[in-house]
Amino acid sequence: MKRELTALIGLTVIAGVASVSAQDQDPTPPAWAYPTNPPALAGGGAQATTPAPDTTPLHLPGTNLTFTRAQIRNGFGPSDWRPETHPKMPEVVANGRQPDVRACALCHYPNGQGRPENGPVAGLPAAYIIQQLKDFKSGARKSSEPRMGPPAAMVRLAQAMTPEEMATSAAYFASFPYQKWIRVVETTTVPKTRVAGSMWVPAEGTEPIGSRIVEVPEDTARTALRDPISGFVAYVPPGTLARGESLVMTGAGKTTACGICHGNDLRGLGPVPPIAGRAASYLMRQLFDFKHGARAGAWSPLMKSVVANLDENDMMALAAYAAAQAP
Ligand code: HEC
Ligand code: HEC
Repeated sequence: MKRELTALIGLTVIAGVASVSAQDQDPTPPAWAYPTNPPALAGGGAQATTPAPDTTPLHLPGTNLTFTRAQIRNGFGPSDWRPETHPKMPEVVANGRQPDVRACALCHYPNGQGRPENGPVAGLPAAYIIQQLKDFKSGARKSSEPRMGPPAAMVRLAQAMTPEEMATSAAYFASFPYQKWIRVVETTTVPKTRVAGSMWVPAEGTEPIGSRIVEVPEDTARTALRDPISGFVAYVPPGTLARGESLVMTGAGKTTACGICHGNDLRGLGPVPPIAGRAASYLMRQLFDFKHGARAGAWSPLMKSVVANLDENDMMALAAYAAAQAP
């Protein structure tokens, strides 16, 4: 731990050369990166009887296991469709602890790959995971978009976690690598989308991409059943990856080259987290949250100067480029 702190202090000196924040004109979180569920349909009419629980056994390709919808969504023991893709889960990861610590596997999946609205945790350094859990718990890390449900849920459950649960879950997720899971595609036209379950999913028809990233499941039906090996595609505007590469590699006169701290391949360095191949919308939220102060944890000052002079298009290009790299 002492060695890690010394390394981080060294990095602060490097980061210190970046100039102080230019005031940002528009701190509204971009909806493409912060999906919020539509308000529940009003006036639907009360039902006379509660519908019977749906006990239909559901299936996924490549496994004989079946789960009902209620089992898949169980916050205290969700479906483990593919036990062969991860080591044996500790109790807190598999089942959580009633009443407040929901199972990590529900949102990050048993194999830590995580859906974009939650983010991946597989392959992160244990010291980094513990620090994030402490930052959520202390209130130093939250979301710029308070209406987005999952980050608020993450804060609530971290508040209830014991130091032992933090250490056990961190050791588990740090013990195996993160797998490639996001396919980044430059395009001018994208599917229309809607929010379902705090996540963007394709709807009928197409539209111009404009200035945003559209990150959706490769297979919405499989993702709806929480298939932990069915990944995502991130559509990005043409030219985004080249712009991202220049910012990552050189800073392009606006920031510090990322490799100094995250490693040249962006696969992490000591306690500094890997960012290669992780969900583009997740990465965008983090950059935006650092910039606007929602993420202000113990190690966040190192990122504050990195994002100080970046506008939303710069952050989008960085997120797209990092997401496109091999983890
Ligand atoms: C209700 C869904 C949910 C559950 C359950 C959940 N998380 Fe999270 N987790 C999230 C969300 C959402 C984020 C932050 C996403 C963001 O900032 O946009 C997050 C972020 C994290 C991060 C930060 C990742 C990073 O790269 O910085 C860690 C570490 C983490 N969770 C660990 C856990 C652990 C350990 C558990 C089980 C004890 C758990 N989570 C349970 C939704 C959840
Ligand atoms: C001076 C060191 C330093 C530099 C340079 C740096 N980072 Fe970071 N970065 C960090 C540290 C330390 C953290 C963890 C911050 C925390 O815990 O709050 C981090 C966290 C992040 C995260 C959040 C990761 C997660 O899992 O939530 C992203 C995204 C990120 N950095 C992107 C970048 C990009 C893109 C660049 C280059 C433009 C960059 N960083 C340059 C040190 C650095």
